[in-house]
Amino acid sequence: MAGQAVSHPFFARVYPHINAFAEAHGSVEHRQEMLAGVHGRVVEIGAGMGSNFVHYPPEVEQIVAVEPEPRLRALAEQAAAKAVVPVEVRAGRAEALPAHGTFDAAVFSLVLCTVPDVPAALAEARRVLKPGGELRFYEHVRSENPRFFRMQRIINPLWGLAGGGCSVTRDTEQAIREAGYTVEEIRRFVFRINGRAGPASPSIIGTARPSTC
Ligand SMILES: C[S@@+](CC[C@H](N)C(=O)[O-])C[C@H]1O[C@@H](n2cnc3c(N)ncnc32)[C@H](O)[C@@H]1O
Repeated sequence: MAGQAVSHPFFARVYPHINAFAEAHGSVEHRQEMLAGVHGRVVEIGAGMGSNFVHYPPEVEQIVAVEPEPRLRALAEQAAAKAVVPVEVRAGRAEALPAHGTFDAAVFSLVLCTVPDVPAALAEARRVLKPGGELRFYEHVRSENPRFFRMQRIINPLWGLAGGGCSVTRDTEQAIREAGYTVEEIRRFVFRINGRAGPASPSIIGTARPSTC
């Protein structure tokens, strides 16, 4: 299941700094909001350097964290060693996850902006969830404001080059619905830092479950 590695050495070096800045300005609270009430066995997809690990509630029995980028995965292994909840870090991609029907929750945070094949990633998450399992997501998305979205579209090619393939123009809520999930809860907001909105500020946090029919 390891699949192809993803190599983004520049992004892997700068992301820890970007993340530390975002966490100092509110993204810690977003991570906690996304993970509130999660329990049982969890697969976290594209776990990066494991920034979510410390925010899982004690009701979580085990986290399988899948990360394809070697440098970020090494940092995730360090974070796993410090986490209270048991974490197993594995090489792998969203498009090819381990096992089948064995997880109570699948977590995507700031990942569906980057995976090349979003429908495949969401289908895989669905395949590995137990019946009644849930998707938790925290993602930056395309703006609902037409002028802001125009700016996102203009900046997107450059953004992708610097950001390891990240896109700021994805309609991730729509992608989740089209992948056969029912969105049960969603909060849409603009993550401003020091009062300013950047291309990746429009965001969603929520919960979805595979639709029954
Ligand atoms: C912006 S980082 C977010 C990391 C982490 N989830 C977080 O919340 O900080 C995007 C992550 O997606 C990962 N990624 C890129 N392509 C992927 C793929 N095909 N499958 C799984 N993860 C992928 C990257 O390696 C990186 O760790």
